[in-house]
Amino acid sequence: MRPVNLAEFEDLARGKLTREAYEYYAGAANDGITLRANREAYERIALHYPVFRDVTVRDSATSVLGEKISFPVMVAPTAFHRLACEQGECATARAAARAGTVMVISTLATTLLEEVTAAADGPTWFQLYIYKDRGATLELIRRAEAAGCRALVLTVDTAVWGRREADVRNNFTLPKGLSVVNLAAQAKQAFPEGVSGSGLAAYTAEMLDASLTWQDLAWLLTQTKLPVLLKGVVRADDAARAVEYGAAGVVVSNHGGRQLDSAPATIEALPRVVEAVAGRVPVLVDGGVRRGTDVVKALALGARAVLIGRPVLWGLAADGEDGAYGVLELLKAEFDLAMALCGARTPDEIGRGLLG
Ligand code: FNR
Ligand code: LAC
Repeated sequence: MRPVNLAEFEDLARGKLTREAYEYYAGAANDGITLRANREAYERIALHYPVFRDVTVRDSATSVLGEKISFPVMVAPTAFHRLACEQGECATARAAARAGTVMVISTLATTLLEEVTAAADGPTWFQLYIYKDRGATLELIRRAEAAGCRALVLTVDTAVWGRREADVRNNFTLPKGLSVVNLAAQAKQAFPEGVSGSGLAAYTAEMLDASLTWQDLAWLLTQTKLPVLLKGVVRADDAARAVEYGAAGVVVSNHGGRQLDSAPATIEALPRVVEAVAGRVPVLVDGGVRRGTDVVKALALGARAVLIGRPVLWGLAADGEDGAYGVLELLKAEFDLAMALCGARTPDEIGRGLLG
């Protein structure tokens, strides 16, 4: 059965993944209020399309921070791709390159970031978690720079770990042979032994720095020449402050509902962030993007582009690189159709007028 939408990729993936892996990927914090809100908020937005617009010739390409992408969708950083398929993050990198977009590689990848960037000739960014061990953090940054990653994405919504109850119930851990391999050089690749509940939560509690403040952003910006985007912002004041500190971009995100359950839906948080940033840096958004119309809605509300997380994992699990590529191509086709039905020939022609 060839999936005709992203939801059908999830159906396929569910049949291929272990229950624990599926529930880790699909899971959200607590009651999933924010997970649902991300999706429902998109469904509440209507698109007031103009008529008599010649849309014969269209081009979905755009650019973010100088990075040309074939359509305004990027691959969000997600952990442990080798839970989905043997080729893991390398398959994702090849799929993203084939689709003409950027893959953001997670700190918690199950593949050495050098292997991921070598796997495809597509542009990659590196998502950073700041470890208590600043030496380990700097080593990650140096390696990402040397491997050709073109931006850092600092995740700022995980001061502590959201309570993903499925992972607690499943005593979630990584199967033998998988680890946080990019931290192996610092002997920080393994989850703590013998914990009950989420092994990942135990790992992050031990390793990640809950004390981060704006001073740590200032510190990070002195440690790299790469542009640094902040991912996980939902407030206007934080977005404005990020720009004032020197962030090169803001990703409006609530971690796919996996962190604070009751965080606002990202598409509802987006407009106030866009207003506060006032065009000084690109604003991206993720969380619940499943349709081409969602991408149009995000752009109409001021996003430069969106990122997708879970759908790429469903593609990976369904059919490895080809599955992840299939997800991206399906969404690209949906975006092109939605753009045309909204009277737009390019992403830049998608504006607030569509919102009525
Ligand atoms: C994530 N996300 C995430 N974010 C991040 O900054 N670093 C990470 O390592 C991960 N890992 C991760 C694993 C899994 C299984 C999921 C589902 C999510 C969050 C991710 O980047 C993104 O914000 C959300 O996934 C976007 O929501 P959707 O598209 O999954 O609805
Ligand atoms: C998660 C981490 C890896 O949400 O960000 O699972």
